Amino acid sequence: MNELNFENTSVFVAGGSSGINLAIAEAFAARGARLFLISRSEERVDAAVAGLRERGGEARGCAADVRDPAALEAAYLQATEWFGEIDVLISGAAGNFLAGALEMSCNAFKTVIDIDLLGTFNVLRCGHAFLRKPGASVLNISAPQAFNPTRYQVHACAAKAGVDMVTRVLAMEWGGHGIRINSLVPGPIGDTEGIRRLAPNEAALARMRETVPLRRLGSLAEVANMAMTLCSPLAGFVTGAVLTVDGGSSLQGGRDLKPE
Ligand code: NAP
Ligand code: COA
Repeated sequence: MNELNFENTSVFVAGGSSGINLAIAEAFAARGARLFLISRSEERVDAAVAGLRERGGEARGCAADVRDPAALEAAYLQATEWFGEIDVLISGAAGNFLAGALEMSCNAFKTVIDIDLLGTFNVLRCGHAFLRKPGASVLNISAPQAFNPTRYQVHACAAKAGVDMVTRVLAMEWGGHGIRINSLVPGPIGDTEGIRRLAPNEAALARMRETVPLRRLGSLAEVANMAMTLCSPLAGFVTGAVLTVDGGSSLQGGRDLKPE
């Protein structure tokens, strides 16, 4: 079997209606997987599902907020009634904006923690009952903020550091169930909402490129290729790993992101 052939593979993507997570969904769909997408906006989920189907993929989805365990349960039931147990679970819902600690309210900090960190726990905790055991692979989408202290990013830094700890601890707890759990850490990836928020103009983008040893932003395909590999039998002995796909940018330490 070609190990990047995902026929008869069920993939659930939390936060899958745009950007990096949708690109990962597209890559799996192009190799035969059945995809179920969720995000908050029904309209955006429907558009993403329609796009996958137009390219010949098998896809469904529904609106669900990762902050709401009951909505996640309902989404998992709908997905698994359609495509059976989940082989691959991608947890990538996130929110971000540039703001210093004194420019962000306590609720603003909590909002990002709720989506990124509690949302990741909810997606995995509620998803466990629906995962194929043994055999499932879970991928949490983290960020360099998890290990690079970055000004104007205290919320994302705290949240993504927590996400990577969820990865490591649940890899230990659920390894005996035959479930692998890893974190994928994209560096700055072109044509994404994340980069539009963190580097909102050409000068900021140029500064960002300078922080990458490979001197360019990454592509959606480069992240998707690594996501598929980590969730395939090629990575069958990899669990609890936090893997960067960042052109080496994390080697440079924290970035100083300045709001314009
Ligand atoms: P994006 O397009 O904004 O993707 C975020 C997705 O999450 C959207 O589909 C959004 O859809 C969904 N979402 C947001 N809040 C949600 C919630 N409460 N419940 C359910 N879904 C929710 O951004 P992106 O830049 O591609 O980022 C995707 C992931 O990559 C994130 O985890 C991010 O931290 C990570 N990352 C990105 C970069 C980068 O360069 N862009 C670098 C490192 C890490 P709705 O609005 O419909 O909810
Ligand atoms: N600077 C400071 N505070 C901000 C802010 C900013 N740029 N944007 C939002 N906030 C604050 C709000 O004022 C609010 O705090 P308050 O109640 O004290 O006024 C709090 O954050 C929550 O905002 P709200 O708009 O109610 O949250 P939401 O749950 O509807 O949306 C966000 C979540 C704020 C993260 C929103 O930007 C979002 O939906 N992001 C998803 C897309 C994204 O960020 N993609 C990139 C992923 S890396």
